[in-house]
Amino acid sequence: MSDASPTASETLDPEPRSRAKHPVRLERSNGIATILIDNPPVNALSASVRQGIYIALEAAEADPRANAIVLVAAGRTFPAGADITEFGSPPQDPSLPVLCDRIEACPKPVFAALHGTVLGGGLELAMAAHYRIAAAATQLGLPEVKLGILPGAGGTQRAPRLIGVEQALAMIQSGQSLSAADAMDKGLIDALDEDPREAATALALSGMEPRPTSKNRERLKSANADLELLSAAREALPGMGGPQPAMERIIDCLEAAILLPFDVGLTRERDAFLECLASRDSLGLRHVFMAERRAAKFPELETRKAPVLQHVAIVGGGLMGAGIAIACLDAGLAVTVVEEGEAGVTGALDRIGDGVQAAVSKGRISEAQGAQALTRLTLTANMAEIAKADLVIEALPEQAELKERVLGEIGALAKPEAVIATNTSYLDVDALAKASNRPDRFVALHFFAPAQIMRLVEIGVGPGTNPDAVALAHRFAKGLGKVPVRAATTPGFIVNTILAKFRLMADALVEDGASPAQVDTTMRSFGFPLGPYQVLDRSGLEASWEMRKRRGRVEGERYVSIGDKMCELGWTGRKAGQGYYVYNEGSAPVPNADAITLIEELRAAQGITPREVSNREIRDKLLLTMVNEAAKLLEAGVAARPSDIDIAMIHGLGYPERRGGPMFDADQTTVFEIHRRIAALEAKGSSLWKTAPLLAQMASERGKFSDLN
Ligand code: CAA
Repeated sequence: MSDASPTASETLDPEPRSRAKHPVRLERSNGIATILIDNPPVNALSASVRQGIYIALEAAEADPRANAIVLVAAGRTFPAGADITEFGSPPQDPSLPVLCDRIEACPKPVFAALHGTVLGGGLELAMAAHYRIAAAATQLGLPEVKLGILPGAGGTQRAPRLIGVEQALAMIQSGQSLSAADAMDKGLIDALDEDPREAATALALSGMEPRPTSKNRERLKSANADLELLSAAREALPGMGGPQPAMERIIDCLEAAILLPFDVGLTRERDAFLECLASRDSLGLRHVFMAERRAAKFPELETRKAPVLQHVAIVGGGLMGAGIAIACLDAGLAVTVVEEGEAGVTGALDRIGDGVQAAVSKGRISEAQGAQALTRLTLTANMAEIAKADLVIEALPEQAELKERVLGEIGALAKPEAVIATNTSYLDVDALAKASNRPDRFVALHFFAPAQIMRLVEIGVGPGTNPDAVALAHRFAKGLGKVPVRAATTPGFIVNTILAKFRLMADALVEDGASPAQVDTTMRSFGFPLGPYQVLDRSGLEASWEMRKRRGRVEGERYVSIGDKMCELGWTGRKAGQGYYVYNEGSAPVPNADAITLIEELRAAQGITPREVSNREIRDKLLLTMVNEAAKLLEAGVAARPSDIDIAMIHGLGYPERRGGPMFDADQTTVFEIHRRIAALEAKGSSLWKTAPLLAQMASERGKFSDLN
């Protein structure tokens, strides 16, 4: 190692073969050793990075010419955490906790120069350093709980010592990041500077001593107030939800930080981390993290890059159109909404105004941002104004003739390079594409209500859709902060196709003897935020009634007419004052006794003697239905991967995230067992069960859905 040049750089690799690619470099200049982490895209702390930092640290410490050490990262961010892809494999030395201890114990001062998203293990690394300097735009957080784990490299012990127990609890339990200014305020960082590396180097050159590492080793002042705070947090746990056992272990670790010596606290934390890592909830949440990113990888993006989108036009300003408009305004786009006549325009304006106001009151955007958003909105009855838009979304009521007629107009007026999208749920997208006269620039953008909140957007790609149009639709959805999932243009796409079968199965269980409230309670206790009948009441029963009328009965398949009869009676849900539940101002909804009577009458008319239906039967049959339908969609190529279906069902239907989605769940039970149960139901002769051939094939090969991802 030579220090002859002003800056000497070397790679740190225990295996010189891969020297050129090594993700850590040591640079020396003017008595400062700079450890540069370069592991794109987010500098995750993989084994080779940890090894590189460790070796660099030893070299810097042993080098008499190096007086101080600066830890910095290249590219878009200081490490955004441990490498999530390594979690399933055997641990490799040095572990992150060992590396953090090594940094903290370094006799030469270590300065962490921070930028980007300093998350999880990245922040733990920074907390082990002796000084932290961050660029103003840096975000700092411990988001491990979102993966069902907790900070496992000293975070639960160092954070409370730096910022106090209350702040540490808030940060670790919520997983939310702090801005650099906030972090400065709370004492998590020592300085703010636009060029943190230069500032760290300047500080290092000024010859600062390392903070006594014993500061961390000291006992936290065991304030009774902190212990009381934690015991209150423990009591609040049952109402908080969140992954288990992480939520509980976070409190255990913070308690250990107060009551036990630092080293013992670290050991407790390690044990808790490993317990959480092995938990079912963490397994599911980590699958979701990866699945979400996999779903966003559309094949079209390999060859196409969409231009930046500026202007979106939405034709139809009803609930869905208004929701999409709010989402677009939130994302900073210019939006033109076309409605019919003065009443249509005023109605849409009210809905969008209310939605923006709600975003302000809920703190999603600031008052100034809300006001600014509305300046980007144009409401008009003049269809010709869509000519400015890069993307035109048709969001009209679900009527084929109406949509086809208006899409013809849109096709004639939109600029040639614009993409045209329909927000249909169930109609024939290919027919709509044809009606626009621009099938090559046509996609479906299927949002879920309320569109400004729900994160899923199914992007329906037809046989004639040009890859550029797909790339633009994808960029648009990502720009709104949504999770795009690719689907073929089959009516219903992924979510509504599965939902239709799911609802039919629920109705059949009710007709057999269950009550709607029992079905709802069972599915909520499984982890859905709402039961299927609560959802129907909220969205109104009419849409699925219309859909059933359009489709007609399927020859030989059981048909349940409860929903149809309720619609005929006007019991269409919350807006009508009653549906499966009765809604009275100021009191909680209660099961609708009239609906129960109607169900009893319909059973009697069909000669069905109601039987006891257990919660377990409800749960099993509804979950099996989802997997069976999903397997059919995979086979038909409507969904590209099982994990795309997981993401669609989580973000579109509220499938509990910590279970990882229906396909991941099925893998845990094994496809073999799932197939055995469905085939057994089919063998009983019910028309509701037709085993997906893919399941039979996978079961015979002992296959797993994860192998198809
Ligand atoms: N490990 C491995 N890969 C990661 C990663 C991580 N911690 N974080 C991000 N990536 C990968 C993503 O999978 C993605 O890969 P592809 O390009 O192949 O799809 C790529 O980096 C870019 O990520 P995003 O698409 O998410 O990019 P973004 O700009 O939207 O977001 C981010 C960047 C804010 C860092 C976001 O990726 C994120 O939140 N990452 C997770 C952060 C996290 O949870 N850290 C804690 C890890 S657990 C831990 O550290 C445990 C411990 O205490 C020891």
